[in-house]
Amino acid sequence: MKVGVLGSGDVAKVLASGFLKHGHQVMMGSRSPEKLADWKAKNPASSTGTFADAAAFGELLVLAVKGKSAADALRLAGGQNIAGKTVIDATNPIADAPPDHGVMRFFTSLDQSLMEQLQGEFPSANFVKAFNSVGLAFMVNPQFPGGKPTMFICGNNEAAKKSVSTILDQFGWETEDMGSVEGARAIEPLCMLWVIPGLLRNEWAHAFKLLKM
Ligand SMILES: NC(=O)c1ccc[n+]([C@@H]2O[C@H](COP(=O)([O-])OP(=O)(O)OC[C@H]3O[C@@H](n4cnc5c(N)ncnc54)[C@H](OP(=O)(O)O)[C@@H]3O)[C@@H](O)[C@H]2O)c1
Repeated sequence: MKVGVLGSGDVAKVLASGFLKHGHQVMMGSRSPEKLADWKAKNPASSTGTFADAAAFGELLVLAVKGKSAADALRLAGGQNIAGKTVIDATNPIADAPPDHGVMRFFTSLDQSLMEQLQGEFPSANFVKAFNSVGLAFMVNPQFPGGKPTMFICGNNEAAKKSVSTILDQFGWETEDMGSVEGARAIEPLCMLWVIPGLLRNEWAHAFKLLKM
């Protein structure tokens, strides 16, 4: 599959590497593609360009930018380049204010998530929340003694969620579908929960798993 990764930060790089590892074609996008020169030199099979280039390239897109700038990045990507495509949304609505006793602050409320805002502004894109509630080291083929961790996903488009589940299978995750875009009200704050042991006790090596009867 041709994958356009919107972002030049660590999450974008880790996910782009995961797609390359699993045989996909990748273009990474940034406002300043030259900042990806080192990454491209280490990953010669990939390509780099602007947000619009990467969005036009991808059959599937990954949104891995600063939460506050997610809508700006999508505007730069161009509505026509994201229309009808699955957009894996790895972003979190982290506010600028510092954490409170290890609990990060969000600029959203429990009644409206960042992904709902993005889906509202870009109704023809098929957003699927994923990868937002785990650290970089465990995004691609995580190995835990307790088995595969669970990736909680949500989104309005069933076909888009199916294709994200297939990718999560490749990336070594089990998938739990938490319904429509409103599910992001619960999935985005999982990032806060994931970070607390890190900020309080410098423990960062964990992932969530849903146990079932
Ligand atoms: N770090 C983690 O372990 C982790 C885990 C799960 C999810 N996340 C989430 O993943 C996302 C990416 O995190 P990150 O740490 O890799 O990167 P980041 O530092 O949060 O974001 C960097 C990206 O944001 C873009 N950006 C910043 N300001 C912008 C603006 N005004 N307009 C357009 N784009 C702008 C940058 O674009 P340019 O390339 O043009 O500079 C760059 O691609 C975040 O939402 C984060 O909460 C992080």
